[in-house]
Amino acid sequence: MPTTRDLLHARLQPAFDRLVPGSDPVVRPSDKADYQSNGVMAVAKSLGRPPREVAEEIVAHADLSGLANVEVAGPGFLNLTLSDEFLSSRLRELTTDDRLGVARRDEPGVVVIDYSAPNVAKEMHVGHLRSTVIGDALSRLFTFLGDDVIARNHIGDWGTPFGMLIEHLLDMGEDSAVSELAIGDLNSFYKAARVKFDADEAFAERSRQRVVLLQGGDSETRRLWRILVDQSVAYFQEVYAKLDVLLTPADAVGESYYNDMLADVVADLDAAGLLTESDGAKVVFPEGFVNREGEPLPVIVQKKDDGFGYAATDLAAVRDRVGHLKGRDLLYVVGAPQAQHFQMVWSVARMAGWLPENVHIEHVSFGNVLGPDRKIFKTRSGDTVKLVSLLDEAIASAEAALVARGSLLATEERLVLATQIARAAVKYADLSTERQRDYVFDLERMIAFEGDTGPYLAYAHARIQSIFRRLGDEQWSAPVHLTLAEPSARHLALGLLRFPEAIEEFTQGLAPHKLCVYLFDLAQRFTSFYENCPVLSAEGELRAERLTLCFVTARTLSLGLSLLGIEAPEQM
Ligand code: ARG
Repeated sequence: MPTTRDLLHARLQPAFDRLVPGSDPVVRPSDKADYQSNGVMAVAKSLGRPPREVAEEIVAHADLSGLANVEVAGPGFLNLTLSDEFLSSRLRELTTDDRLGVARRDEPGVVVIDYSAPNVAKEMHVGHLRSTVIGDALSRLFTFLGDDVIARNHIGDWGTPFGMLIEHLLDMGEDSAVSELAIGDLNSFYKAARVKFDADEAFAERSRQRVVLLQGGDSETRRLWRILVDQSVAYFQEVYAKLDVLLTPADAVGESYYNDMLADVVADLDAAGLLTESDGAKVVFPEGFVNREGEPLPVIVQKKDDGFGYAATDLAAVRDRVGHLKGRDLLYVVGAPQAQHFQMVWSVARMAGWLPENVHIEHVSFGNVLGPDRKIFKTRSGDTVKLVSLLDEAIASAEAALVARGSLLATEERLVLATQIARAAVKYADLSTERQRDYVFDLERMIAFEGDTGPYLAYAHARIQSIFRRLGDEQWSAPVHLTLAEPSARHLALGLLRFPEAIEEFTQGLAPHKLCVYLFDLAQRFTSFYENCPVLSAEGELRAERLTLCFVTARTLSLGLSLLGIEAPEQM
């Protein structure tokens, strides 16, 4: 189904083409009317004619019958008001459309999304929260659009720290190491290894030798390394379950996965004549990257000690995602500080011919999560804040809120609901912030049932569901013609019709907050409708019309939230 905006655009296009072929009607939602076309100015300018006159001529030639009413406003805007018959028939269509007007892609493709990416034997922190939650929403969105989504959880599972981590594991004994890691005490494990490494030269030496064994493929060393990786992945999986995100252990395709491809990366760059020696390391200088002193910046492909680094792995990953996975879109949901790393790596990949023009590659970057002092979120002792503790705190506070509201649920059910509310709170606060911006992690604000919050939207949905519960087994069906006479009802209907446009904005900008803005606005439209248009005390056609609006609103809220990875419980 085309969006309402597309329909208006298509109907206006011939009248614009008549004057200036290929000119753009520029149709947008507006507060002045339902939509506005702002394309007249450009046409008038290129013809050297007064805009109002051009506007009148376009109106005279545009066929908007059955769709909208048009009026020239101001210096030459076209105010478009949708006709009642169009609103009514569209709304009826929505009652039976599972996709609520959102079209599937004509040509689906493979979308590779690199997200979450915590590091083995290190705690997941709030930075990983953003990557995980945003990546999960994008995953759900593209799947819904019909694409084939491949998640790549690029966990940090390789590199020199593994020498000391393995030695520490041996010192502790496998069993106690495993039990420490299994309960998710990753930070203390890592720290203890680090402390020994810094203080004890013999331990440091053992660790260095262990790195050599690991890189050389020694089987016992690999077994010990596997333990660290598996334990960590199992722990990450618990966090994912708590968050209710789609990632599975099979998606954990970490840095080590690319090990076997790294020698080819070097050889092929060399064969292409791109490789240079710099301080004993093998590097490529992509064009246009310089440091503060204006000197060219290298991408280090192989270090002086022959080891491969983060950039080499990401080069291999690009090759794999283009050549093997056949990605149409490669998305990297990673914090803003890594912007330059990606730009440089991709630049090298383009120079090497590994990244064709028709592949869309994008750094889906995001801002920081801040503490109440507006600085990077840290605990009082200066440690990074553990993601699980935040979630647990959110669940506890949702439970307290339920008790305070006089919830009659049994303890177990209350915990289930509290968990859903906590997830809604934490995810929505994250997703409703414009991606690039920082936000303050303020649990009290996030979890409030009023305001622009996840719980508010989930509650709006549950309230509507309670209307349907009160209907019992009463049969009803959408009337053939909806009058939408009450302004708040019309306003709500218009909002419902805009859902596909919100999805389009979410997709184009990889911007979940666009959908959040839409859903919050829709919930407010519903509230004012519900205040002005009693449902259960209405009768006949009017009752059916109002029920139709309730029904489509509930479905829209629930589908919209689900694309953000947020559950909409039936009852709250
Ligand atoms: N593990 C890295 C970190 O915690 C993020 C990896 C992002 N993905 C990538 N392909 N480099 O910062």
